[in-house]
Amino acid sequence: MSTEEKKFETQNLPTKTYFWPLKRYQDLYNSALTDSEGFWAKHSDVLSWEKPWEKVLDWNPPYARWFVGGKLNMSYQCVDRHAKSWRKSKVAIYWEGENGDTQTISYSDLYENVNRYASVLKKLGIGKGDRVTVYLPMIPEMVYILLACNRVGAIHNVIFSGFSSQSIADRVNDSGSKMVVTASGGHRRGKILPLKEIVDEAVKSTPSVEHVLVIKYTGYEVVMDPARDVWAHDMLKDADKYVAPEAMDSTDPLFILYTSGTTGKPKGILHGTGGYGVWACNTLKWAFKPTDESVFWCTADVGWITGHTYVVYAPLALGLTQVIYEGAPDYPSVDRWWEIIDKYGVSIFYTSPTAIRMFMRHGEELPAKHNLGTLEMLGSVGEPINPEAWEWYYKNIGHENCPISDTWWQTETGGFMITPCPGIQSFPLKPGSATLPLPGVDPVVVDAEGKELPANEIGFIAIRKPWPGIMLGIYNGDELYKKTYWSRFPGWYCPGDFSMKDSDGYLWLLGRADEVIKVAGHRISTAELEHALVGHSSVAEAAVASRPDEVKGEAIVVFVTLKKDVEASADVKRELTHHLRTAIGTIATPEEIIFVEKLPKTRSGKIMRRLLKAVANEVPIGDTTTLDDETSVNEARAAFDELL
Ligand code: WT7
Repeated sequence: MSTEEKKFETQNLPTKTYFWPLKRYQDLYNSALTDSEGFWAKHSDVLSWEKPWEKVLDWNPPYARWFVGGKLNMSYQCVDRHAKSWRKSKVAIYWEGENGDTQTISYSDLYENVNRYASVLKKLGIGKGDRVTVYLPMIPEMVYILLACNRVGAIHNVIFSGFSSQSIADRVNDSGSKMVVTASGGHRRGKILPLKEIVDEAVKSTPSVEHVLVIKYTGYEVVMDPARDVWAHDMLKDADKYVAPEAMDSTDPLFILYTSGTTGKPKGILHGTGGYGVWACNTLKWAFKPTDESVFWCTADVGWITGHTYVVYAPLALGLTQVIYEGAPDYPSVDRWWEIIDKYGVSIFYTSPTAIRMFMRHGEELPAKHNLGTLEMLGSVGEPINPEAWEWYYKNIGHENCPISDTWWQTETGGFMITPCPGIQSFPLKPGSATLPLPGVDPVVVDAEGKELPANEIGFIAIRKPWPGIMLGIYNGDELYKKTYWSRFPGWYCPGDFSMKDSDGYLWLLGRADEVIKVAGHRISTAELEHALVGHSSVAEAAVASRPDEVKGEAIVVFVTLKKDVEASADVKRELTHHLRTAIGTIATPEEIIFVEKLPKTRSGKIMRRLLKAVANEVPIGDTTTLDDETSVNEARAAFDELL
């Protein structure tokens, strides 16, 4: 803080505390509601617009288009404007590989790399509107490629590196990608992930793919198809040093990111440019109060939305210094992350409840071995954080000095929605509550009919107004977009979560209200798992439920009936586990597989999910009078007991 600013602060200290404690937050929040146009006009200046926008919002329900008429390029925000300023020598990324390799990347290094990769993409025929699938480990090239895509106007489609060939093929085909970018390998817990091999299998069934661009990493030997595959390092030799950033419309798509819903097929969430960028930057400022001195670390993989918004776009557009770590949190030892915080002097640390619970299990001695004194802010995301984990995090990582921003949001929302916001004003926190909505977010807790519920009653959360980060839609899925998010409470966005507002107005986000399971904070749909299971030759019918898991939040429990001639055995279980991992990816690994003679169904033939869930959870099942065959329940319960 400058002396001028200090003076200002002291002069303005109130002599009496007659302000309502939340005044500053309330004022900002109210101005975003009452003068939405004026508010967003002012807050759109976090970005550098090549051509100013003409209209703040074009709201044509259920489609919101923000900053209409404006032109800008996201790679310009993240790179050029810093490389042309005093920040050119500022560290953009401290990168650390799982094997201990490191790189320090300044904003001018970033500028150089993004330009050269943009030139490579162009030479391979990638231009405005083309889709590029990205299947990479957490290496600096992940950032270069995404920004290079923006630069030439291409739409990136990142797939988390734990997904299978089949999942890649489905997403490449749905998005019609012209190119896949991958690496020869990646590190995970000391092993090599054979990423290129996985892509090779996928692109056997993706006619739209013209090239696979391969980044050499890990030294893992791969086979190159001369007609299709190109090494990035070969292309970079002749790359141009500068590629002019394509002037994109504010409402042009920036990326597609697939996420699981209630159907058997993942949805391609499509995000735009200007609105998303404005939302990403402002939300990061509000929830984490970063400064030019901050060292920011969001531990999420870029394969998920958290990594898109809070590893790539927001921190870089704001010109922050951040840490990117490639590997597993517990490799080679469970204090790897604390070592990294200590080593780089991390001041803002953002992670998931699953990670925190994993660390809790290993005891407070491990973080205590490291100097975590540089931390100022903590964050949590992905699932509700249980108060015990919150307290442990607050005490053992934040040393009771750091506020925790429990950020509730979704792939679809682009950025934080409900979270404490010390960047606006510090207010009392309650462990387990994401607290209050950010400016521009207008939530309401309602019953199934859409009627607002009184305080302390649990219902659905709905958002009554569009905000700048809202998705453009679902790629190839207009009907699905309307049905999934806008049909339950017409005119309001329906996130699909249960929620409760307490008597202080604090919101508690209580988990999914639909058939979506959260495993380690990652979404997976029961329908998707069931669809994959019935695709196996031994399976007749399948139903999937979840049960609470101490570390992962929820775990997958599978119920299957086998085909006539198939014997239930440990081998079949192993096969089915393998089948799910190949069909979907590692996140689909079931915790339990239970063989039953029949699935419990209602007389109308619907699977009784509530009942299966109760069995999986071992809680009393309640009324089963509508059940067709009660023996199947007992059977499922007995099988489950056996497993314990
Ligand atoms: C779902 C969205 C948002 C980035 C990571 C996950 C759950 C997320 C919280 C939180 C309670 C949370 C919700 C939401 N969720 N953050 N802080 N408290 N629940 O993104 O895969 O799109 O999942 O994650 O159920 O609907 P996603």
